[in-house]
Amino acid sequence: MLDASGDQASGLRGIHHPVKVISVSSGKGGVGKTTVSVNLAIALAMQGNKVMLLDADFGLANVDVLLGLHPQHNLSEVLSGECRLEDVIVSGPHGVDIVPAASGKKRMAELDARENAGLINAFSELTASLDMLIVDTAAGLSESVVSFTHAAHHVLVVVCDEPASITDAYAIMKVLSRGYGVTAFKVLTNMTRGAEHGYQLYEKIARVTDRFLDVTLEHAGNVPQDEYLRRSIQQQSSVLDAYPSSRSAQSFRALAQQCERWPLPASSRGHLEFFAERLIGAEPRAAAV
Ligand SMILES: Nc1ncnc2c1ncn2[C@@H]1O[C@H](COP(=O)(O)OP(=O)(O)OP(=O)(O)O)[C@@H](O)[C@H]1O
Ligand SMILES: [Mg+2]
Repeated sequence: MLDASGDQASGLRGIHHPVKVISVSSGKGGVGKTTVSVNLAIALAMQGNKVMLLDADFGLANVDVLLGLHPQHNLSEVLSGECRLEDVIVSGPHGVDIVPAASGKKRMAELDARENAGLINAFSELTASLDMLIVDTAAGLSESVVSFTHAAHHVLVVVCDEPASITDAYAIMKVLSRGYGVTAFKVLTNMTRGAEHGYQLYEKIARVTDRFLDVTLEHAGNVPQDEYLRRSIQQQSSVLDAYPSSRSAQSFRALAQQCERWPLPASSRGHLEFFAERLIGAEPRAAAV
């Protein structure tokens, strides 16, 4: 019903429901974080969600390359206050909003007070109504990786069946749980021979974390090694658009459905202040890591 002013929507416009923030991390490089981030974001958008994809890999800006986009601005200009987040966002396939990475290798820990304020303002003033924010992080365990991963509500750890991938996935969970109090992780097995192999790999990791870490693991899904996925990347397209019936496209749709089931943040404030504040306030705990 219309109110006295004749504008029922006026009351609703100011309400932003919480945004689910999912970081995609791995420890080891080259295990598929960017591939997963891009295809997950597009699968979620295809399922009706308003999605933003943040490229938080400050070393190598990948997301725009993967999708053949040519951004004019990037996050570093937002940090320095030269432009607003809205000016940096590039519209990707299926209406996914893409925030290209800041150029250079500046770490989150090195931002000065003005840049910190710029980042918080940029996210909290974002007017677009979002359902999900997917954060593609860099490899390794740098301050910036830890900050972005710690700021997310759900941490998706991508792992493939290689000793270095397994030990690095363990390392990132160890740092985040002992140092930052992050105790729940979703594991995505990638480049496997199939669902069974993926589950065995997940169990291998869960056995080690159960023994040595105080964390809860969940198998978020499995993406098999898929030639069609590789080809879609060469074509600068998502596999969901290029090869919708491929095995990897099916896996990304299942993963997106899984992500939809993960709970929303408890914060009733909504929007992205929570994310931005956690990003800046990522202080390690006193306990040794
Ligand atoms: N399931 C898969 N099947 C086939 N190829 C894959 C699969 N997942 C990833 N790849 C390939 O692996 C390579 C590395 O993937 P990607 O760039 O997404 O990894 P990354 O973890 O983001 O790397 P970096 O740590 O350098 O950012 C890419 O060439 C991609 O095509
Ligand atoms: Mg990457």
